[in-house]
Amino acid sequence: MGRLQCFLSETLTPFSFLCFFFCWFFCFRTAAFNLTTLSFDEGYNPLFGDGNLVRSPDGHSVCLLLDVYTGSGFISSSMYQHGFFSAKIKLPSDYTAGIVVAFYTSNGDVFEKTHDELDFEFLGNIEGKPWRFQTNLYGNGSINRGREERYSLWFDPSKEFHRYSILWTTKNIIFYVDEVPIREVMRNDEMGGDYPSKPMSLYATIWDASSWATSGGKHKVNYEYAPFTSQFKELVLDGCPMDPIQQFPNPTACSFTDAWLEDRDYAVITPARRAAMRKFRQRYMYYSYCYDALRYPVTPPECVIDPIERQRFQDTGRLNFGGSHRKQTRITRARRKRRSKDAFISNDQTDI
Ligand SMILES: *[C@@H]1O[C@H](CO)[C@@H](O)[C@H](O)[C@H]1NC(C)=O
Repeated sequence: MGRLQCFLSETLTPFSFLCFFFCWFFCFRTAAFNLTTLSFDEGYNPLFGDGNLVRSPDGHSVCLLLDVYTGSGFISSSMYQHGFFSAKIKLPSDYTAGIVVAFYTSNGDVFEKTHDELDFEFLGNIEGKPWRFQTNLYGNGSINRGREERYSLWFDPSKEFHRYSILWTTKNIIFYVDEVPIREVMRNDEMGGDYPSKPMSLYATIWDASSWATSGGKHKVNYEYAPFTSQFKELVLDGCPMDPIQQFPNPTACSFTDAWLEDRDYAVITPARRAAMRKFRQRYMYYSYCYDALRYPVTPPECVIDPIERQRFQDTGRLNFGGSHRKQTRITRARRKRRSKDAFISNDQTDI
């Protein structure tokens, strides 16, 4: 899809009808959030690759393109002390190996050594293989303690828009795909500064991550398929705007918004949502740092151990793709040790 076709309206194909009926029976069914959306100019600014950031004529959606010259990105105009950061996103289709589309909050520009961050990172794939994604969090510069989880999806994120959201409150962090909470991190005193605590901006970016994104860097970006286009619409920034230098820390400045946030529909994990979360994690999560005993001999304090997940991941945090159980048991102790010592990010997908 090129620059100009970016906002052409979509047509219903027989395939989308099929998907619709399939979904009717099998998808997660939950009521949509009631949200107030912003136009691009109301809440955001271009961040880099301005020529590759294309606004729709009505200013309510935006395309981020990656071509051989540059990726692109945008950033919220304000920083927020807690909030709900959300967008409907459609990812690039066809051959997307080596591409990362990231939707995340961070304050790394302001607090270089002690930054906080909450991530959705979509990892492109070779044609015919589904997109995968990861969530992660860092607090107060905890870059040596990654808290990655990796998942696949129950739909093709390059075919339709789906809503991706990050809720960050004083009490917890929830990552949502549509209305399904896929991950919850409860604040826990033992986490200390690892729980994000300073105002953050919202970022959306597309970039070339050939060195690690797909099969540990084996599959690079192929610019014959460029430009790669990711679309964002129905943008939401519900939060407490705060200048991190002038106004922070101020323990009471955001108490009104904090209470308001905690009262919102998306702040409540109802029993139905909790059941959907459990189902998602049991079916679609294929890596969790919480079960990676080779990397974290002591389970990190915020981890809630689910017996079914524990059994699936054993002590590596990973599912073994493609191999039989027999093959799995043949992995020697030495090899497992070596795997765990390598940089996590570069070897995680080698067996996919
Ligand atoms: C964050 O890290 C800095 C520097 O290491 C430290 O002085 C500060 O107390 C930490 N803050 C929290 C909330 O842990």
